[in-house]
Amino acid sequence: MNIRLARVEDLMGMQAANLENLPENYLMKFWIYHSCAWPQLSYVAEDEKGRIVGYVLAKIDEEDNAEEVHGHVNSISVLRSHRRLGLAKKLMLLSQEAMSSIYKARYVSLHVRKSNNAAIALYKDTLGFDVAGVEKKYYGDGEDALKMRLDLESSTTSVSKSSRP
Ligand SMILES: CC(C)(COP(=O)(O)OP(=O)(O)OC[C@H]1O[C@@H](n2cnc3c(N)ncnc32)[C@H](O)[C@@H]1OP(=O)(O)O)[C@@H](O)C(=O)NCCC(=O)NCCS
Repeated sequence: MNIRLARVEDLMGMQAANLENLPENYLMKFWIYHSCAWPQLSYVAEDEKGRIVGYVLAKIDEEDNAEEVHGHVNSISVLRSHRRLGLAKKLMLLSQEAMSSIYKARYVSLHVRKSNNAAIALYKDTLGFDVAGVEKKYYGDGEDALKMRLDLESSTTSVSKSSRP
């Protein structure tokens, strides 16, 4: 298993994994935009044949107040065949570290379905995110989203401190 920065040639594989794993899907221009605008923030996990088995797609939100520059995770998923190996944790940590070190992001935010217990456990228990609020009917099917947030300055979890998958 290899985890590395996403490259333009990975985008089809990332989109395919997204289609397989999540109901929230995006046009290819969305994937390309992220890859071009924030090339240091998205990572992939590939198997021994070079097939994309997991990815994290992330960006920087730069608001008017420069102190509030923060990262945002748009999408993360791992193929069923490769879950519970620590891949999502590692993908998140690498992206978070890049947000902090390259863009000086103060915190990272994301949305997650209220019913997505696996992802909530990953964010809360493993990575230390807090629930910052609830967005009612955020998803197309009417499900609420939890808004989650992790302060990158006080985060105690990092790739170097965690065991590798
Ligand atoms: C959520 C998801 C990305 C986790 O990927 P993963 O590579 O299996 O996660 P990891 O192996 O890094 O798990 C890290 C920790 O997260 C938690 N976790 C992961 N999957 C879990 C599950 N099914 N049930 C409970 N906790 C879970 C555990 O605390 C786990 O640590 P442990 O294995 O030591 O107990 C994966 O299940 C997935 O792709 N789901 C579908 C897409 C999705 O929901 N994406 C998130 C959208 S917001």
